[in-house]
Amino acid sequence: MTARKLAPSILSADFSQLADEVDRVSDQADLLHVDVMDGHFVPNLTIGPPVVKSLRQRTDLFLDCHLMVDNPEDLLADFADAGADGCTVHIELGDPRPRFAMMRSLGLRVGLTLNPETPLDSVLPYLEEIDLLLVMSVHPGFGGQPFIPSVLDKLTTARRIVDERNLPMELEIDGGINLETASQAADAGADILVSGSAVFHADDPAVAARTIKEAAWPNGS
Ligand code: DX5
Ligand code: ZN
Repeated sequence: MTARKLAPSILSADFSQLADEVDRVSDQADLLHVDVMDGHFVPNLTIGPPVVKSLRQRTDLFLDCHLMVDNPEDLLADFADAGADGCTVHIELGDPRPRFAMMRSLGLRVGLTLNPETPLDSVLPYLEEIDLLLVMSVHPGFGGQPFIPSVLDKLTTARRIVDERNLPMELEIDGGINLETASQAADAGADILVSGSAVFHADDPAVAARTIKEAAWPNGS
């Protein structure tokens, strides 16, 4: 059985009223997804530890920091100090083990992620060492992109392997999750759905978050 969690991505929130935006979804959110972009690993620049520190003072939600940066090792201590609960690093950067060790020593939950075109094989050696595998369903860099359906096969295979190995880690999917794609991702075995624009660009983000969860897991099943 999957964990059935929703992680609204604040990338699509109104940053001028970020605390209010978080309050709007906090009853429906199981984690808050924080997209960190450095303008190098991806062609966009977003937020860093100071914003996480401010959020930490306003919410008890798990702060799930997705690091789309070239040098996550330079930032991990600052995110931990700011109050992040977990950080996720990209496999495309190379051997993630030194970063895992840093995260563990800092008390961070350990996440690993892969881009849509990156084969699942690249992360299989590390599944026993992580708390979270994040399957990207858009090319990282921007909110509001369409879901790439071919990643569902990757998610299905990841689910099967995680279950076969009886691993305690969670499977998260990120990008283009809306009312329609939420159920496809849940059926493929996602534990955690990240959703940005479909939540925060809705007239009522709380209603949008609730209906996405209901679409993904009807009757909580
Ligand atoms: C993309 C980010 C996603 C994004 C999701 O680089 O990692 O978390 O914010 O936004 P939507 O749900 O709009 O695709
Ligand atoms: Zn993300």
